This record gives sequence, structure tokens and C-alpha cells, in this order.
Amino acid sequence: MGIEQPLQSAIDALRSASQILVFAGAGLSAESGLQTFRDQGGLWEGHRVEDVATPEGFKRDPVTVWRFYAERQKRLLEVKPNPGHLALAEMERIFPRFLLVTQNVDDLSERAGSQKIVKIHGDLLTVRCTHCGTEKRVEAYINPALLRQTDDLPVCGQCAGLLRPGVVWFGELLPEGLIERALLFATQSDALLVVGTSGFVSGGYGLAEAVLRAGGTVIELNPNQTHLSALAQVHVRQPSASALPAIVQSLRHS
Ligand code: APR
Repeated sequence: MGIEQPLQSAIDALRSASQILVFAGAGLSAESGLQTFRDQGGLWEGHRVEDVATPEGFKRDPVTVWRFYAERQKRLLEVKPNPGHLALAEMERIFPRFLLVTQNVDDLSERAGSQKIVKIHGDLLTVRCTHCGTEKRVEAYINPALLRQTDDLPVCGQCAGLLRPGVVWFGELLPEGLIERALLFATQSDALLVVGTSGFVSGGYGLAEAVLRAGGTVIELNPNQTHLSALAQVHVRQPSASALPAIVQSLRHS
């Protein structure tokens, strides 16, 4: 059976591109074994966003929030990049003008070898002091089961202030300048590849419009219809861990 038409259309659009922007969401890491947020069995099924992903929730009950993130850090240490992450890292090597803008806070793209990454929602493996603002990589593994009361929570080595996960919560601003950098890159991109995101939050819409205005092509890679589908000219309805390697396999020989 030959390559499906949408996949071939995606390959053709990427092959003729000289600058490529990729916008990724939790679906890219799903086949590594990390939960997405809004799918069946997703993270937002078992947790209320307002309890574990807002500054108010953290203020109200930092232990519950830390357990939620410590569980995700623990899970992240148990999984590894999937062929989709590896394919994006190779795509970066094939196209000198390439940028991966990701909503994901996992480090799987970095572990797969991607270097040109903009992480607009922060990083699960960094922590920040709520008092002095010092930010650092998570050094030691935090066992969620040991987090029972506020005294068990990690504190800053500089000022003993309470540390928080280095991720962006609902109601918070994205890290300074990242979306602007992504939008500028989009205005000069010939193709935007949207991978594994429902398009519910931040950024995808603006990036897609910027690429379309510049005459570029928007490709959506997602087994399901999303909020961004209407903006895409090509819809590859396949999981990313198989579709991305198939795309890169073709590009490698172009
Ligand atoms: N391959 C590609 N896409 C997939 C796969 C897969 N194997 N499995 C699931 N998907 C798609 C789903 O169809 C869905 O469209 O991934 C998407 C996941 O959507 P969400 O769970 O909403 O995740 P995301 O879009 O990344 O959420 C964005 O919302 O809650 C916040 O901060 C959180 O960064 C997150 C943001």
C-alpha cells in the first residue's frame, strides 16, 4: 500500500520548504507513555486544573500541587523519547532553518537531540523559588509519597523560600519574549507542522495565521480533529511516532 495522500502532501510541502516551524503538544509524547491532558485518561481527568495548575491552587495547597508534579517528574524519569521525538531532532539537522516550539514541559525532545527548542510552558525538571526567584534544575528525585505536609516540600538553597515547579500555570504569563520569537520565526516560515496538540491553549492559532499570511502551508499531524484543524491545509490523521519517521524517511532522500 503506497503512502497515504495527506502524508505525501505533508512530505511535498516540507520538501519544498526552506524554513520550517514545528508547534508541538502532549500528543508528541503520548507514545512514550506520558499522559496527555484532554484525551481519555488524560491528566485533567484525574485532577482539577484550578487545584494543581494555577498560582491560587499552589497557594491554597502546595503539597497537593507538589505531589502532582513530583508524580509527573517520576513518570518522566521512567520513559524515553519515542521515534517521533527522534524524527523531529533529525528534521532539525536536515533543515538549517528550523525551530521547535513546544508546549510540553517534558525533556524528551532534548533527550532525542533537538536543540532549537522554545519551551513556552516551562520545564518540568526546573524549580523556582517563590521568594527570591532563583531557578535551577531539579537535582534529586522527589518521592511523591514523602510529600505529606508543607515541611516536606523543597526549599530554596539561597533563601529557604518555598520552591515551585518551573512550569507556566493557567493565569500566568508565558516566559518573556518566547511567543514573540516564535511569531517572528513563523512570519518567515514556509511550513508549520502542528503535532499532537488540541489547540485548546496558547499560541497555535497565532502561529498558524502568521505562516498562512506569509504564504506558507500549515500541516496538522494528529489522529483527531482539533481547534486548529480549520487552519491547516493538510491533515495527517496518524499518530506522530509513526508518521514523523515516515515523513523524515522521505525527506532524508530528497
Ligand atoms: N500522536 C499525535 N497526536 C496525538 C497522539 C499521538 N500518538 N495521541 C494523542 N494526540 C493528540 C490528541 O488528539 C490531542 O489533540 O494530542 C492532543 C493532546 O491535546 P491536549 O491533551 O489538550 O494537550 P496539549 O494540546 O498539549 O495541551 C496544551 O494545555 O493544559 C495545558 O499546559 C497544558 O501544555 C498543555 C496545554
